[in-house]
Amino acid sequence: MTQDAFAPATNEWYYPSEEIVRSAHVPDYEALYAEAQADPEAFWAKQAQALDWFQPWSQVLDQSNPPFYKWFVGGKTNIAYNALDRHAKSWRRNKEALIWEGEPGDRRTFSYWRLWKEVNKFANVLKSLGVKKGDRVTIYMGRIPELLMAMLACAKVGAVHSVVYGGFSEQALADRIEDAQSRVVLTCDGAWLRGSIVKLKDMVDEAVKRSPIVESVVVVKRTEQPIKMEQGRDYWFHDLMNLPIASEMCETEVMDAEDPLFILYTSGTTGKPKGILHTHGGYQVYTSTTLKWVFDIKDEDRWWCAADPGWITGHSYIVYSPLILGATSFMYEGAPNFPYPNRWWKMIEHYGITILYTAPTAIRGLMRFGDAWPNRHDLSSLRLLGSVGEPINPEAWRWFHKVIGKERCPIMDTWWQTETGGFMITPMPSVGLKPGSATRPFPGVEVDVVDEQGNPVPAGTDGNLVIKKPWPSMLRTIYGDPDRFKRQYWSAYEKQGWYLTGDSARKDEDGYVWIIGRNDDVIKVSGYRLGTAEIESGLVSHPAVAEAAAIGVPDEVRGNVIYAYCILRANFQGNETLREALKDHIRHEVGPIAVPTKIEFVDSLPKTRSGKIMRRVLKAQATGQPLGDTSTLEE
Ligand code: WTA
Repeated sequence: MTQDAFAPATNEWYYPSEEIVRSAHVPDYEALYAEAQADPEAFWAKQAQALDWFQPWSQVLDQSNPPFYKWFVGGKTNIAYNALDRHAKSWRRNKEALIWEGEPGDRRTFSYWRLWKEVNKFANVLKSLGVKKGDRVTIYMGRIPELLMAMLACAKVGAVHSVVYGGFSEQALADRIEDAQSRVVLTCDGAWLRGSIVKLKDMVDEAVKRSPIVESVVVVKRTEQPIKMEQGRDYWFHDLMNLPIASEMCETEVMDAEDPLFILYTSGTTGKPKGILHTHGGYQVYTSTTLKWVFDIKDEDRWWCAADPGWITGHSYIVYSPLILGATSFMYEGAPNFPYPNRWWKMIEHYGITILYTAPTAIRGLMRFGDAWPNRHDLSSLRLLGSVGEPINPEAWRWFHKVIGKERCPIMDTWWQTETGGFMITPMPSVGLKPGSATRPFPGVEVDVVDEQGNPVPAGTDGNLVIKKPWPSMLRTIYGDPDRFKRQYWSAYEKQGWYLTGDSARKDEDGYVWIIGRNDDVIKVSGYRLGTAEIESGLVSHPAVAEAAAIGVPDEVRGNVIYAYCILRANFQGNETLREALKDHIRHEVGPIAVPTKIEFVDSLPKTRSGKIMRRVLKAQATGQPLGDTSTLEE
């Protein structure tokens, strides 16, 4: 998908103040990049030494069987040990680890000591349910502290968590439970969103009917509406946490650096979601190093990553890396504009948030309500801002910079993916910024923009974004499908051994990278990643639909919205009732985020002679662009 929603000015610069540069962990990006370039393995070994290992590694990087790279080979560790255990023994034991606010306004705070104890108890509960090292556990919860504890408790006992974002519904959840073969599901009764309840437990009940492998469901009480509890399968979390078995002491499992930590499903080019697999060792090193340097985390900071923990951004930068660094994190449960559009700004003022990391879609959404909402609050505690998930349009960038950051706070536009585990192309506070560019690669990372043959394209020209060298938090495989892993990411530039990102990008004369967007069949809706194939297979699973095509169409707030085109089976009428029925169907098959804005009933779809749907043609039509080369078009 090549979208040029805006034409960025490549010579609009913003420089950080001298004060910011002087006090930054990395005052000189160039020097650090050169150091990493000179000896990447020594560089990463040095960063890994900041963490605790039960046993040191014998080899930093094993490249003997590409693309199955291994990092910190022979090292023994556990990310939960680095995130909690070690702080509970240090002066940080009384430091706030997590400050949380619920949408209704309730508040909870956990010190490192308290969080450690709660996670120990939770880990013992998991053990009592028979969860062992290597077992997969599916987590489907709202944005509550127990979600974070659940992930850490899994890590602690060596289980592999698979968090399914609460915006997915029963079928998507069932598919993910099935693929991971999870016998245990951790959930809550419901989640608060915009003043109403998202009934998560009802969704779990439906999903479990479709995936009978599930033996136990643990339910955290949050929204308190009546729910069905199935005897012998469903347990209240608070009951389990009160049992004598839920002791506050729990040994942390010794894990190999390459043992799996989590699976996170993400969309690709087929209807079947990909289970991206990350491991304990390299992931902990890379996420903590990137967070420390890019967002310049200091002990006195209050860090707010406003993403969902069920997204990679939340895994890496709400749960794991802030805790590894011993930072204080803030998490908020609900909608940004509830009950009023000043909710975020009010919380920044109330808690004295110093760093806010969010997504362009949220920025654009809040920008629409006007400047008066942020202007009634004191936002002077902020010192850095961040953006992730899709290209940030310069207009939103300038608003964020001026109205929220008062022209004092540099914006870290971080480019990365579920697959990369951490920031790959990103500024640091000491780097000159250009609105709309993620700037340059993180030290130790080598990227390029190339043509189909792998030749670097000239400055200002579009090409494929590739990553040329392995990095510690790279995905290790697609769970259960190593062939797909090879094919998807490593076959396009097999000879060179490069990783294909699926994004198209362009470099400017200063070597700054500008991400244009996905060039595969992935659509970013409000920053969430959806495959056209997922939506299409959802549509054709409805009895009325014979064939379907889905495309992303640029939208001012959400980045993209979905348009769907359906060919109906004989005897079905394309009317408003059916349109609503199809939307409802998608809501259940995939989730509310995948519901098309527009559904059109058509007699045919543009196809190549080999029968492949040409979404490019539909898209050009929908956006009023020229159709381009249609020589391969059949009808
Ligand atoms: C897009 C999200 C432009 C990109 C962490 C990538 C971005 C996909 C940026 C991964 C950014 C992410 N600028 N585009 N700063 N960050 N993207 O796996 O297309 O949900 O390939 O990971 O988001 O989405 P994912």
